[in-house]
Order: sequence, then C-alpha cells, then structure tokens
Amino acid sequence: MKIEFAEYAIPKGGVVVAGVLEDKALTPGATEVDRRTGGAVNRALKNGRFQGRNGDRLDLVGPGDGSYERIVLVGLGKPKERDALKAQDLGGGIVAHLNTAGVAKATVLVDPMPESPLPSAPAAARIAYGARLRAYRFDKYRTKEKEDQKPTLAELEIAVAGAKSADDLFQPLDRVADAVYFTRDLVSEPANIIYPATLADAARSLAEMGVEVEVLGVPEMRRLGMGALLGVGQGSEREPRTVVMQWKGAANRAESPLAFIGKGVTFDTGGISIKPAAGMEEMKWDMGGAGTVIGFMKALAGRKAKVNAVGIAGLVENMPSGAAQRPGDVVKSMSGQTIEVINTDAEGRLVLADALWYCQDRFKPKFMIDLATLTGAIVIALGHENAGLFANSDELAERIAASGRATGERCWRLPLAESYDKALASEIADMKNVGDRAAGSITAAQFLQRFVNDVPWAHIDIAGMAWSKKDAPTVPKGATAFGVQLLNHLVQEYYEGK
Ligand code: BES
Ligand code: MN
Ligand code: ZN
Repeated sequence: MKIEFAEYAIPKGGVVVAGVLEDKALTPGATEVDRRTGGAVNRALKNGRFQGRNGDRLDLVGPGDGSYERIVLVGLGKPKERDALKAQDLGGGIVAHLNTAGVAKATVLVDPMPESPLPSAPAAARIAYGARLRAYRFDKYRTKEKEDQKPTLAELEIAVAGAKSADDLFQPLDRVADAVYFTRDLVSEPANIIYPATLADAARSLAEMGVEVEVLGVPEMRRLGMGALLGVGQGSEREPRTVVMQWKGAANRAESPLAFIGKGVTFDTGGISIKPAAGMEEMKWDMGGAGTVIGFMKALAGRKAKVNAVGIAGLVENMPSGAAQRPGDVVKSMSGQTIEVINTDAEGRLVLADALWYCQDRFKPKFMIDLATLTGAIVIALGHENAGLFANSDELAERIAASGRATGERCWRLPLAESYDKALASEIADMKNVGDRAAGSITAAQFLQRFVNDVPWAHIDIAGMAWSKKDAPTVPKGATAFGVQLLNHLVQEYYEGK
C-alpha cells in the first residue's frame, strides 16, 4: 500500500474519508462534501446511530448525484481529546474498513481543528503511521487465496494543509513501521524456517544499515561458560546462538550503551518436561522477545537515532531428545551460580540468565531491559491488555510505563521482593529454576534478578502480548511486535541526544 501526502483539497470524485465531530458537527471537509452532494451527508446523519463519537463510522455508497464512489464518515469525538494514539487508530481503522469494502484508492481529508492539541500535520502523520501499521499482512505461504479475499487498498492519499511537514513527521514513524513489519515477519515465521541460525542471519541483515552484528556460536558460548543457555539448547539439532547488535549513534561512540535483551526460544516444546499437544504450535512465538529486540535495533538504525544501544538475543530451540537436559540436572551459569533445573519448560529464564550476565559484564550498560514471553502466569494475571513489568529502579519503571501509555503498548508493574525469592531455594545448587505455583511470574523475575548486578534493570513479560488472536486498530491479528514502539518511544523521549 502506498501512502502519500497531498496539499489539502477536496477531491471531485472517488472515495473520500471525511471527519465528523461529536454531536454530528461536520468538519469543513465534510461540510463541503455535503454541499457538493446536495446534502447527502446531512441526510445520512439524520437517521441512524452515527453521532461522530471517536471510532464511529458511517459509509455512504454512491451518494448524491453519484460523482463520489463512496463517502466514509469517521467520528472524531471531541477536538480537545484528540491525540496521537487516537489518530493512529483512526488511520488503522480506515485501512481495515477500505480493505473489506474493496476500495483501491481513497483520500482522507485532515481538517484543521483549532481546539485540538494535535495540529493537523502531526495528525496526518499519525493517521498515515496507523494506516501502515494496520496494513501489515503475513501471506507468503498462502498460494490459493481468492482474489476477493485479498486486501484491495493500493493507495491512500492524505490531504492536509502543510503536506510537506506532515511527510517530514511521517518519515521517522515510517522507519519504526518498517521495524514493526520486520519483527512481525520474524515472529510469524514457523519454527522450521526460523531457528537460532536463521534468526541470527536475519539479525545480520541489519549490518547494511550500520548496526554492528556479532553472532556467538556454541564453542564461544562454551568458552564464556554459558552453561544455563547451552543446557536448554542441547536437546535440539539446531544449535543455539547469541546475537550481539550494536548501534552507535551518540555523538560519543564510546559512551556506555542502553541495553536490550530478548528471549529467543525459536520453539518451546517444554523439553523433557514436555508441554501438552493442544496449542503447542503457538510456541513458535516464544522468540517474541528476541524478535522485538532485533526489530527495535532496526528502528534505531532506520531513523539514525542519536544514542548508543546494544541488543542481545539469546537463541535456542527447546526440544526433548536423547541429548536433552533432564529435570534435576544442575548447570553452571556464566555468573558462576549453579542452577538445579527442576522443570525444563522454565527455559526462558535460563537463557536470559546468561544473556543478562554477558551483557552487563561486557558492556557496562546504563540500564538493561529484557523482553520475554516468560510465563503463562502473566497471561492469567494481566490477560492480553498489559505486559508484566518488573524493575529494580522506580525511575526506569515509570519511564517504561509512560512509554507504554504513549504508544498503546501498555505495561503494568508487579512487585519484586526478597520474600518471593525464597521459593527458589534448592537442596543441592545455588537455586532451582522454578518456585511453586504461587506468583509464577514474580518468582521468574526474581530468578532473573539473581543475574543482575548493580545496574538499573527492567524485565517485561510479554507472554500475553507477543501475538494476538483478534484484530486491533493498528495491530492485525497474529504477531504484534509488542515492545518495538514502546522501546523506541522510551529512547527517543528520555535518552536520545542527552
Ligand atoms: N514460553 C513459556 C511461557 C508461555 C506460556 C508463553 C504461554 C506464552 C504463552 C515458558 O517457557 C514456560 O513454559 N513457562 C512455564 C513456566 C513453569 C514451568 C514454571 C509456564 O508458564 O507454564
Ligand atoms: Mn517453556
Ligand atoms: Zn518458553
């Protein structure tokens, strides 16, 4: 789908999208379209439920003398309440609607709204961004799709006063959308296509954008003593990898970086503590944290962010086999701490233990944030509305939560406390890898914290957020790329060029 900005002008025909404010108050664009159709808009508004509330929509097909193919009225609610997220959702909703309606090309009129805190150029940019986010589709394996089931929208024109400045504002957002697409592609791919070596190759492709990419193989990880990560991978034919990505965009390339660590279990069978068959196919998404970190590095490079950042992805496949690790095995992590592996299905924390340690040991980062589809328990606690947020720093936690609110990728903070940590006591090693059933997401975070030294750290449990079974305005069902926009906002708002 092509997105273009044009100077504000009301088209004479075709498909036009025009705004209506609360209580059926027409925007100037809608007023003019009404005039040109001999009052078709006002006639349509007389009957029916459309009030112009935010999210309302009314479709007029072939109204008036038929010079317009279709007029789509979109509710904007109260001008005072407009914001970037609402504009994005509007753009996403328009794309979804036009695609189901079978429209190939449309013009969206973005009218000036004096009372809105969001001026029309940034509003237009956000509408375009939301449109792009919603237009994502993973259809490479559909060879028999009928024409009438494919999306139709090929061109979306956004008409706004100050088209050039809208386009300028859109460019960095468009680069973030590229990154979101990249993450969604990686996470959508099945586990026979994306496994540690191929996911590492995908990360390597960022080198052409100026990201320095290193890939650690098994011998190097063995030398480093990453026994926890390697233990998870030892049952698979697909060897583990650790990917290290560095973006050096700060004025001082040697300045200590911000660090982002992702769980990249390319398939999680549970290992010898095997999962039930029903729904196991979903565990191809278990590399969602790594997918987000890799995509986020692409976002930084794409918009040439003025910041130093390192992204680390711990990549393994968790399989049962004659070589697999057994419940009760004791492994030694890179930190030197030993772990009794009570449950081989609590593998993400073992991968992250070594990835976190390696990261802080090598990079001495300003902070570390890890993202992981870590626990089913977080889905029970927070559902699919919020990721679980854990942090040893109130400042970092508040900044992440605020970035979540700003981007719609919401996080809810849960506690860390020594009292929860007791659940990890082992009879024969420094710790075991699971507690009992109580507070499963918190004990998992407590486990991670044992591998974090004196550095601000946050852990985001995205098990309920990495993919979605239903469409949302800017997120089609499937892989969400949750976290890419949040991390991008966090860096841009609080750390860039500072
Ligand atoms: N990858 C899973 C967590 C998960 C579950 C993500 C459901 C998304 C949806 C993780 O590796 C896991 O298996 N966790 C176990 C931990 C338990 C054995 C302590 C879980 O949550 O059941
Ligand atoms: Mn597991
Ligand atoms: Zn897992």
